[in-house]
Amino acid sequence: MRAGWIQTLPTFGEPAANLAAVAAVIDAAVAAGRAADLWVLPELFATGYVFADRDEALRLCEAVPDGPTVSGLIALAGRAGCAFVAGVAERAPDGRLFNAAVAVDGTGLRAHYRKAHVFGDERRWSTPGDLPFPVVDLAGARVGIMICFDWRFPETARTLALAGAQVIAHPSNLVLPHCPDAMVTRALENGVFTVTCDRVGTEERAGMHATFIGRSRIIGPDGVVLSEGPPDRPAWDVVEFDPTRADDKRLAGGNDILADRRTDLYRL
Ligand code: ACM
Repeated sequence: MRAGWIQTLPTFGEPAANLAAVAAVIDAAVAAGRAADLWVLPELFATGYVFADRDEALRLCEAVPDGPTVSGLIALAGRAGCAFVAGVAERAPDGRLFNAAVAVDGTGLRAHYRKAHVFGDERRWSTPGDLPFPVVDLAGARVGIMICFDWRFPETARTLALAGAQVIAHPSNLVLPHCPDAMVTRALENGVFTVTCDRVGTEERAGMHATFIGRSRIIGPDGVVLSEGPPDRPAWDVVEFDPTRADDKRLAGGNDILADRRTDLYRL
């Protein structure tokens, strides 16, 4: 499969323009002969990250999948013959707001996730996720989804790996420096490919400040970094790999990183 990331500099509060910027990258990638089967986009890619307050978030959150951002992504996926995993700001039918992610292709919504480990000021507007960590057959691979700060909780990637994920798609808006390096460990300890898609730029809003560190990464199940974005500017990349490499959890010396777990001892 060919998997790619699109590291963006979104304009806050302009979802249509931010979706159009993604569409322009897809067109450029196709024109360059570098189309991906699966594109991972950043967390909250269409809205921006720092909501001034819940009212502003309420105005910018959309229904999944019927809001304009997710339906626009589905249309774009259909036109480009690809799939997306993207972070979106979700307004649930009962009025709760979620920092969510969707997997879509030209047929429609394929998976839906709500960020389990809500980070810092996100707690001002978003409810912690209440959906299981999803693994979906998408673009020729079994794709698991987690969002940004979920990386800091190793149970997240481990749960996705135990559920059969070959590739972990990881929409992000990273503000702490450690994640790109830590994802080497997440890939290695679970024997999976990881595709972290970050953004760049700074948002200063309502007394809050966030600077995003870029460095989107694709990492192989052996911990090898296959692609890395710059820290300070928009970029994109596509890498071709065989996702079934993630099915073999054996190490050269005869160990198996999932089968050899001592679940009998992993308790207090
Ligand atoms: C983060 O979870 N966006 C840091």
